Amino acid sequence: MKDNITILAIESSCDETAAAVVVNGREVLSNVINSQIDIHKTYGGVVPEIASRKHIENIDPVIRAALEEAKVTLDDIDAIAVTYGPGLVGALLVGVAHAKALAFSCGKPLIAVNHIEGHISANFTEHNDLEPPFGVLVVSGGHTYLAMVNDYCEYEIIGRTRDDAAGEAFDKVARALGLGYPGGPKIDKLAKEGDPDAVDFPRANIADAPMDFSFSGLKSAVLNYLNSCGMQGTEINKADVAASFQKAVVDAITDRAIKMCEDKGITKLAIAGGVASNSYLRESLENECAKRNIKYYSPSVLMCTDNAAMIGSAAFYKYIKGETAGYDLNAVPGLGLTGTR
Ligand code: KG4
Ligand code: ZN
Repeated sequence: MKDNITILAIESSCDETAAAVVVNGREVLSNVINSQIDIHKTYGGVVPEIASRKHIENIDPVIRAALEEAKVTLDDIDAIAVTYGPGLVGALLVGVAHAKALAFSCGKPLIAVNHIEGHISANFTEHNDLEPPFGVLVVSGGHTYLAMVNDYCEYEIIGRTRDDAAGEAFDKVARALGLGYPGGPKIDKLAKEGDPDAVDFPRANIADAPMDFSFSGLKSAVLNYLNSCGMQGTEINKADVAASFQKAVVDAITDRAIKMCEDKGITKLAIAGGVASNSYLRESLENECAKRNIKYYSPSVLMCTDNAAMIGSAAFYKYIKGETAGYDLNAVPGLGLTGTR
């Protein structure tokens, strides 16, 4: 095999149209992201049909920009990678169709990447020393997993959410507080002005699955609290609610992540996904890992949210294992970390 494998990666699973050029899974030559947040925030969330249309408009210029910024042409590219799930079906299909057409017309291999694996692999682009085995906490808008990365592309799920994903809970609570979309960063900011012990929101434990998460009860508890304050005419301190809610989520996540490390005897823990950019979560995990001599890895804030460099990184490890996709590749909106849900 050549010394350097250069991959052009495409990501369009939700509301970011992104393309990147990545060498050997670790070196990011370009990482172009066209975010549609400003369009969707008018509606309080992502409108799938609008997302697909915007991806169609943006995908070609974004790919061109990624190649240009990386100072490469399609001739220099060894493989084309694309996110095929999970995500919004129409949005995914734009990327998948575009990647298939490019791969076919250039005669390059096509690599299908799971978006959740992409989030995990974001760590590889910024931490050269991070190699499996390690533990990972994936907290995104659609998924919450605790998993062991036993080898590249090999995952063992230790815990998952039974209902809402962590990011979903942040977004729903932010909406109830009238903070707008996307809610996570807004709660993160407001919580800094609040008292995390002001309201004692519940932390759910699942009796037969102690490593699983449940956030819907917490979300309902916040909504009930807001309603009862409204009925009693009590003034709501939004910053206190945001801080108390955030602490309940972060406590649940931190406790389980540390327990996984202890149970499995892991000395390396990485975090991934949009919620991994939460400042309180990062601080909490960093402190708890430091107390136990667990090496803690977190991607930069940009690398936590959706981008294509993380897809290019995950794709490299599939490429070296010979895992290429056929032209019959389809979008799989309900893909989980280790298969369909
Ligand atoms: O990983 P991501 O970009 O998209 C998915 O693959 O789902 O995650 C988006 C989620 C949203 O729910 C957003 O509110 C949340 O990540 N998020 C945050 C923060 N930044 C983004 N949640 C909490 N605190 C943040 N700072
Ligand atoms: Zn994502």
